[in-house]
Amino acid sequence: MLEKLKKLQKQANLGLKSCNSRSELNNWKIKYLGRKSELSLILKDIKNLDPNMKKEVGMLGNKLRLDLEGIYDAHLEGLELGKSDQSSSLDYFLPGREEKIGKLHPVTQTLREIKKAFSSLGFQIAEGPEIEWDKYNFDMLNIPEDHPARDMWDTMWIDEKMNDNGEKMLLRTHTSPVQARIMESQEPPIRVIVPGKCYRYEATDSTHEWHFYQVEGLAVDKNLTFSDLKGTLYEFSKKMFGSDTKIRFRCDYFPFVEPGVDMSIFWEGKWLEILGAGMVHPKVFEKAGYTDANISGFAFGMGPERIAMIKHDIDDIRLFYSNDLRFLNQF
Ligand code: PHE
Repeated sequence: MLEKLKKLQKQANLGLKSCNSRSELNNWKIKYLGRKSELSLILKDIKNLDPNMKKEVGMLGNKLRLDLEGIYDAHLEGLELGKSDQSSSLDYFLPGREEKIGKLHPVTQTLREIKKAFSSLGFQIAEGPEIEWDKYNFDMLNIPEDHPARDMWDTMWIDEKMNDNGEKMLLRTHTSPVQARIMESQEPPIRVIVPGKCYRYEATDSTHEWHFYQVEGLAVDKNLTFSDLKGTLYEFSKKMFGSDTKIRFRCDYFPFVEPGVDMSIFWEGKWLEILGAGMVHPKVFEKAGYTDANISGFAFGMGPERIAMIKHDIDDIRLFYSNDLRFLNQF
C-alpha cells in the first residue's frame, strides 16, 4: 500500500508537468484528487486495514493529498499568470527579497551629535532661511558693501529678487546671518546654535563643496568673557572627540567678532582646524539695537562635514554628496 502511494506521487508529479492548459490541469485534478481517484479510494479503504498499517497509510495518504493540492494551486497560479513553464511556477527555493533598511547620512549623524553636545550645555536650536537678504548675510555682520572681507565669501546672488530698497538676495554663504536675525528679534540672555546649509560660488575639490553645512553658535548675556567662549568650546570638543581632547586657539579675522580666533583640535598627531569664533563685535550689537553696555557675547561657526571627515578619516568632502552606497553604508 505504501509502495502504491509513492508510485502515485511520482505519477502525479510527472503528470502535472505536462499540463499546459486549464482543461489538462482539471483532468489531472480529477485523476489524482477526484472522488474516484486512486488516492481517494485508498483513503476511503483505510478503515479496513489492520491497525498498524492504518496509521502509516493514513498519514502518508493525507500528506500526499495536501501536497497534491498544493502543487495544483501553484500550477494553476502559474497558468493564470501566463507562464507556460513546465513545472510549478513557484520556486520554493528562491531566496526571499532582502529588506533594505536605510540609515542616517553621516553628516546628519554628526549634526545630531553636535546638537546633543550643545543642548547639554544649555543651548537652544534655531534655524534661518537659506535664501537670505544681503543685509543679514553681510551688512548687519559688519561687512559693508565695499568691505574687502566680502571676498572671503564667494557668493551666489539671486538675479531676480530685490526689494523696494534695492536690497539683493543671495544664497547665504554662512549661518552667521541667523545671529543678526536672532539679536534683532530677541533680548539677551541668548544661548543658541544654528545648524543649516550654506552655499558658495566655488570650484569643488577634496576639501571644498559648493554647498555644505555649518553650525553657528551665539551666546549673549551680561559680562560674558573670552573664558566663557573657551570653556564652552572646550566642553564641546571633549563631548565630540573624547574627554582627553586638546584644543588650540589662534588669532584669526572675521569682521563680526573682535577678537577673532580659529580653534583646532589635536587629532592623531596633528592640529586640525575645526571652527572660527570670537567675541561679538560692538558694531554688530549696535546694528541689532542692543545698547546696554554690560552686554557681551561670543559666537562661533563650525563645519560638520569637516568634523565628520576628521572623526571617520574621510579624505574627500565630495563623497558626502555623491550618493554612493558603498560609501554611505559604512556609517
Ligand atoms: N561665519 C564664519 C565663516 O563662515 C565662521 C564664524 C562664525 C566665525 C562665527 C566667527 C564667529 O567662516
